[in-house]
Amino acid sequence: MSDPLPTLRTVNDLRAQVADWRRAGLKIALVPTMGALHAGHLSLVELARTYADRVVVSVFVNPTQFAPNEDFSAYPRQEAEDAGKLAGHADLLYAPAPEEMYKPGFAASIEVGPVTKPLEGAFRPTHFAGVATVVAKLLNQCAPDVALFGEKDYQQLLVIRHMVSDLDLPVAIVGAPIMREADGLALSSRNAYLSAEERAKATTLNRVLRKAAEAVAKGGALRQAEAKAEADLKAAGFE
Ligand code: PAF
Repeated sequence: MSDPLPTLRTVNDLRAQVADWRRAGLKIALVPTMGALHAGHLSLVELARTYADRVVVSVFVNPTQFAPNEDFSAYPRQEAEDAGKLAGHADLLYAPAPEEMYKPGFAASIEVGPVTKPLEGAFRPTHFAGVATVVAKLLNQCAPDVALFGEKDYQQLLVIRHMVSDLDLPVAIVGAPIMREADGLALSSRNAYLSAEERAKATTLNRVLRKAAEAVAKGGALRQAEAKAEADLKAAGFE
């Protein structure tokens, strides 16, 4: 059995640990998460190992990226289970309390501009400012050489890359491939919310997108593949 994973909860403790590692000449990777870890997160941790000598995983359910009508309260919180999954894989769990991350009077917000506006941003207009702000804080607190994010949230990855470049943050951002269930559903902590019926419907998305990509790869017209995919998704009950 692996040793229990050390857990730190304050910025000062995290910085002291990272400074020790730096003095020893070690490279550090950060894998930011909101917990409820699954195989997708663990693949990020394994990939992080290939870039660094020490891997820090942060678990923080970030309130500022949820709108008032979203699932902040319901979002799964299972720190002990997460720490168990990470033991033997990561070197440190950083799990700050909300008050550590957002001191009374906290007012800053990072707007990353046009990349945040379409797609998910069109439905969640405040989401990416919350993500950019917390990721900037985590990067500043941990000061890793490299930070890893899943390509499942592809727009989020682009927003983070843009923010890191615009703010000259000295960190390499690495995107990691999507991990999927055997039926094609992308692994996500939020899959736990799906009923059997919703779960079956969700797998259609990957199937339809793959079919569209195959049609285009075989020389089919993009517009036609797009229209067919849209029709198939509507027929499967997507709006
Ligand atoms: O992708 C997530 O889990 C979150 O959006 C992140 C990057 C950890 C910021 O809270």
